[in-house]
Amino acid sequence: MRSVKFLLAMTLAIAASSVFAQTVKIGFITSYSGLNGNLGPYMERAVRLYIKQHEKELPPGVKIELITRDDTGPNPDKAKQLAQELIVRDKVHLLAGVIFTPNALAIAPLATEAKVPFIIMNAGTSVISTRSPYIVRTSFTLWQSSFPLGTWASRKFKTAYSLVSDFGPGHDAETAFSQAFEAGGGKIVAKVRVPLQNPDFAAYMQRVKDAKPDTLFVFIPAGKTATAVLKNFSDLGLASAGIKLIGPGDITTDEELPNMGDVALGVTTMFHYSAAADRPANKAFVAAWKKEYGANETPNFLSAGSWDGTALIFEAIKQQKGKLDPDRTMEIFKNWKFANSPRGPISIDPETRDIIQNEYLREVRKVGGQLANVEIETFATALKDPWKELQKKK
Ligand code: PHB
Repeated sequence: MRSVKFLLAMTLAIAASSVFAQTVKIGFITSYSGLNGNLGPYMERAVRLYIKQHEKELPPGVKIELITRDDTGPNPDKAKQLAQELIVRDKVHLLAGVIFTPNALAIAPLATEAKVPFIIMNAGTSVISTRSPYIVRTSFTLWQSSFPLGTWASRKFKTAYSLVSDFGPGHDAETAFSQAFEAGGGKIVAKVRVPLQNPDFAAYMQRVKDAKPDTLFVFIPAGKTATAVLKNFSDLGLASAGIKLIGPGDITTDEELPNMGDVALGVTTMFHYSAAADRPANKAFVAAWKKEYGANETPNFLSAGSWDGTALIFEAIKQQKGKLDPDRTMEIFKNWKFANSPRGPISIDPETRDIIQNEYLREVRKVGGQLANVEIETFATALKDPWKELQKKK
């Protein structure tokens, strides 16, 4: 009798758990090694911190499982293989993360084929989101920063030199900046594309110095590469030659400012996120980050993209009570609005599945003895990806 009761209880418990327990599996691909491999944790930590703070809002019985994978830097073959395994073997409901454009492009067809929504939390080349209807992007595009920067620069400078990394986001940054700078009456004296891995920045900086432009526009992937640019710019005497360094915020990424030192002072950038922004939502985000990870730690723009991407995922989980249908999930993503992101109000453009956000003009200054990207002006409000907007007009 006792064992019958026990069996019955067990059966009921198993049945109940299969009805009520629902684990949402997220396949999270980012870079923990290779070029700028220190950046992966800036994304993962943001996702984990969001989950920790908001877990209690999940429907009863719903859990999130984050399965992390290292794509080893810009490595599309590796990224594709990882995504395939996450889909087929781990049966993830969502794919997320990804720093580098070539990796995002390699994963896109798999997201379409398997109908797995893919939340891009960094990679910024405009075309990416057109490559799968299952892509949504919570980061930025290079057009969003570099196009308004070109407009701003055309009011300040007559001549500009453009130097970018030779891959997708670099090409976008170069085109966006040049178009806006020339439309505003500026003249581009040279456009140089440097290898993504280990470029000889000293040699390039010498050529820039010899060309004597009013300003040097740079895009390189954020992280250690940005510090190398700043160091060479300073060492070769470009600042003292009166050349002004500008670019998207990737070149003065928040976490590298202490490594850059005072050479970064005065560098002007256009971007959607600064850890120094004094919006209450950002102050709370930075404070929570320091509490969780240490007083000397700071989030950066990859953290902001991942934080907001996780907020977006939560919305889909909550609305569907943990049972995710891919098409319904994409509909929820397309209509998502978040008034209180650390970067200000944001939403997803339902037509393109790209983010709509403000762009801030910033300057590196010292605040309380520490270098900071100080937001000077909201240069563009609720900006859609300019590349897609211009395509529509053609
Ligand atoms: C990209 O590959 O899209 C990318 C990488 C690093 C950045 C920005 C964009 O800082």
